[in-house]
Amino acid sequence: MELEAVLRERLGSLSLEEKIRLLTGADFWSLYPEPAIGLRRMVLSDGPAGVRGERWDERDPSANVPSPTALAASWDEARVERIGRLLAAEARRKGVDVLLAPTVNLHRSPYGGRHFECLSEDPLLTARIGVAYVRGVQAGGVGACVKHFVANDSETDRFTVDVRVGERALRELYLAPFEVIVRDGGAWAVMAAYNSINGTTATEHPMLQRVLKDEWGFDGVVMSDWYAARSTEPAANAGLDLAMPGPSGPWGDRLVAAVRDGRVPEAAVDDKVLRLLRLAARVGALEGVDPAARPVAPWPDDAAAAELRQGAAAGFVLVRNADVDGAPALPLDRSALRRVAVLGPNAEVARTLGGGSATVFPSYTVSPVEGLRAALGPGVQVDHGRGVRSTDRLPVAPLALLGRPDGGGAGVEVRFLAADGSLRGQEDRATGAFTWLNRFGPDLPMAEVAAVEVHTRVRVPETGTWRLGGSGLGHLRLTVAERVAFDTVTELPAGADPVEGLMRPPQRWVPVELRAGQEVPVALRYQPEDTGGFGEAEVALVTFQLNLARQASDDDELEEAAALAAGADVAVVVVGTTEEVESEGFDRDSLALPGRQDELVRRVAAANPRAVVVVNSGAPVLLPWADAVPAVLVAWFPGQEFGNALADVLLGDREPGGRLPTVWPAAEHAHLPSTRPVDGRLSYDESIHVGNCAYDRAGAEPAFCFGHGLGYTAWDYLEVTAPPRLDPNHGAVVTVRLRNTGTRPGREVVQVYACRPDSAVERPTRWLVGFAGASADPGQEVTVEVTVPARSLAHWDGETHAWTIEEGVFRLAVGRSYGDQGLATEIAVAGGHPRW
Ligand code: BGC
Repeated sequence: MELEAVLRERLGSLSLEEKIRLLTGADFWSLYPEPAIGLRRMVLSDGPAGVRGERWDERDPSANVPSPTALAASWDEARVERIGRLLAAEARRKGVDVLLAPTVNLHRSPYGGRHFECLSEDPLLTARIGVAYVRGVQAGGVGACVKHFVANDSETDRFTVDVRVGERALRELYLAPFEVIVRDGGAWAVMAAYNSINGTTATEHPMLQRVLKDEWGFDGVVMSDWYAARSTEPAANAGLDLAMPGPSGPWGDRLVAAVRDGRVPEAAVDDKVLRLLRLAARVGALEGVDPAARPVAPWPDDAAAAELRQGAAAGFVLVRNADVDGAPALPLDRSALRRVAVLGPNAEVARTLGGGSATVFPSYTVSPVEGLRAALGPGVQVDHGRGVRSTDRLPVAPLALLGRPDGGGAGVEVRFLAADGSLRGQEDRATGAFTWLNRFGPDLPMAEVAAVEVHTRVRVPETGTWRLGGSGLGHLRLTVAERVAFDTVTELPAGADPVEGLMRPPQRWVPVELRAGQEVPVALRYQPEDTGGFGEAEVALVTFQLNLARQASDDDELEEAAALAAGADVAVVVVGTTEEVESEGFDRDSLALPGRQDELVRRVAAANPRAVVVVNSGAPVLLPWADAVPAVLVAWFPGQEFGNALADVLLGDREPGGRLPTVWPAAEHAHLPSTRPVDGRLSYDESIHVGNCAYDRAGAEPAFCFGHGLGYTAWDYLEVTAPPRLDPNHGAVVTVRLRNTGTRPGREVVQVYACRPDSAVERPTRWLVGFAGASADPGQEVTVEVTVPARSLAHWDGETHAWTIEEGVFRLAVGRSYGDQGLATEIAVAGGHPRW
C-alpha cells in the first residue's frame, strides 16, 4: 500500500480524543506513543551544536560540533552535510528522532543573543548551509526541525515582541532560508517562534498555512517553540500541528471541545495527525513502515574527533595576516619556536559553544593551551597566563579541584532532601553545574524535594585567597569547613527574561583562605525560589552552580602576561566571550570584548612584535587594536576540538578555511539595526538593507566585510563567463577561471555578487547570488562553476504580492568578498513573474 494510504488507515482507527492526545507533547522532550496503531514514542532534542538528548548534564555527553556561525563560515556544503550525518549518528545513539535544528534566523544585528546559533546575515548563504545541514541529518533517518519561523532574529522580550516587518524584507530575507530549506532540503519539521509578526503571534500566524504549507508545499510537522502555543482555536486553525512541550498546554480537552462545537474542523486535526504520522514513518517510529533512510551507526570516537577538528579549522577566518620581518605572521615557523606564550582568558578554558538551549555537554574539550602543548611537544616551552578575566562572574568550580566526600574521585555528592530534612535521593556527579528538568532522576518527582545539597572536598593547587560561592535563583547556603559562609536569597534583576535565571543565575561568593593541597569540606544548599524557566508556563526546572576561582587582580595578571609575551618567540592571545555573554534569552548590550581584554592585547602587542590574536566568540566583537597586531584569526565557538584545530592552523598543518558569514562592525551601533523593542514593537525599519550593504548605504566602512578571509595562499582571478541570458526557470551557471599563485595548496571561496545600478526598484548596492569552493595546488589553474539561481535576481513585488524579475541587464561581479571583486560580466534577463 502507498505510504499516504497507510497513514490514512492508521489515522482512521483513532478516536477524536486519541488523535488530539498526540498533538501535545507527552513531556518536555517526547511525544505520546499510540501502540494501537504501531506508533512508538518519539524524542526531540536540541540542537544545533550537538544533540543533547533528554538530560541536561554531563552524564549524557554529546559530540560538540562547531556552532552555526562557524559552520556557515566554512562556505562548504559537503563538509556541513558530513557534520549533519555525524549529528544524525549522535541522535540515533541517544534515542533522538528529531533534532531541533538548524536555527536559520538571520544575523540582522550582531547584538542578537543567539547570533552564534544562527548561520549568517545573508539569506542565500544561510539557505545553502541550512540545506546541507538538513540533508546530512535526514540522510541518517533523523528529522531536522528548522527554527524559528519567523523573524526571531533577536532575544529582547522574545516571548511577546511584535516584529513589524515589510512584506518585501520578510520574503527576500527572513522567510527565504526557510523556503529553500523546505523546498530543496525537504525538512521534516519546522518550529514556530515565540514572537509576533505584524501583530499576530507566530504559532497563530496565517503564514503557517498559506505560505509554508500551501505555497511551499511543506508536508511535515509545524511544532511550537517551547510554550509558544498559547491558544486553542486560533493556533489549531492557523496550521500549528504540535504544541510543545506537554503534557499540559492549550490543546487537549479544550481542543476536543472546540472540534465538537465546530470551532475547529476535524479535518484540521486529521491533517495534523497525518503530518505527525508522516514524520513518525520517516524516522522509523511507525511499525510496518520503512523509514526514509536506514538508521546510521554511531561514529567511532577517532572518526568523530577528526571530523570535528577539521570542521573547526575549516570555519576559522584569518582576517588579518601582516608581515613580520618580511614574511606573513602566520603560519608560524615551527622550527623557529622554543618558547610560546599562550595568553588570555579563553586560552585555558575552551569556549566551544554559546549559551541557552544550544548547550551540550561534550565528554572532553581541548583548550588552546592543551592543543598547542600537544602539537609542539616537549621540545617547546608553552607558558600560559590568563592576563585578564573575560567575565566578572565567578566560574563554575573546576572539576579537578573537587573531590567526592566518600573519596571516590573527582566530583561531588548531590543529596535531595524532603521538607522534613530526610534524604530522598543521592547522585554522584562529575561537575559543579546542575540542571534538572521535571524530575530529579528517573524516580524522584520534584514535588517531593524541598532542597538540594552539594557536598564536596575542595583542594586547590595554590595557597592564597580564593572565591567560593554559589549561583542560583532562590535560597543559597554555603558551608565551608562546617561553618556557614552565607545564607541568602537571590533574585533576578527587574525585567530580566526568566532564561537568565538558567543561563546566568544570580551569584553570591565569599573570599576564603585556602592552602595548597589541603582538603576543605564544602556544602552548598539550594532551595529553588520558583521553577519558572519559560515565559509564564510552569516548568519544573532546577538549576544552580558551585563556583570557585583564585582571587586575582587583573593588574598583576596583565603584568605577568606581558612578561611571558616578552620572553617568548611568539605570543598567541586568545580573547573572546563566554556562553554567559552570548546566549539565548537576552541580547548583548555591547560588542566590546568583556573586561580588560583590549588592554591585554595592546600590552602583549607592545611586548612582542609576533603577537597573534585568536578571537573566540560566536558573533562579532570589536577589535580596536587590529592594526597593531600582525595576525587576527576568528575561531568562533568551534566545538570541542578547538585547541587541536587551532594548533593545526597556527602551525600551518591546515589552512584557515573560513570566510566571514557576516560583516564585522568597526564600532558600536553604527549602521546596525536595533534589537530593542519600543512599546512592545520591534520595527525592521531598515527593510532589505541588512548586513554589509547597510554600510554602503551609510557610506561607512566595516572592520571586515562579508565574505572576507585570507587563507594561506594567494589567488588570481583570470576570467569569468556567463551565458548571455538567464533562464528564469533554471538560473544560470557562471564559470570562473582562477589560479593559485601562492606557495601552498588551498581552497578559495569564489563569490558572485549581483548589482543593478539602473534599477527602477530599490535594491542593495550588491548582493550575493552564488558561490563555489575551488581547490588548487600552487601554480595550478582551476575552473569552477557557480550556479546563480533565477530567484537570486528576483525581488518580491509588494503590489502584485509575487516574485518578479525586472527586465534588463544585471551586472555580476566576481571575487573574494563583498569588498573585493576583480572580475565582472553581465547577464540579460527577461522580465516577468516566474513561479517556483
Ligand atoms: C528555544 C528553542 C529550543 C526549545 C527547546 C526554546 O526556548 O527557543 O530553540 O529548541 O527551547 O529547548
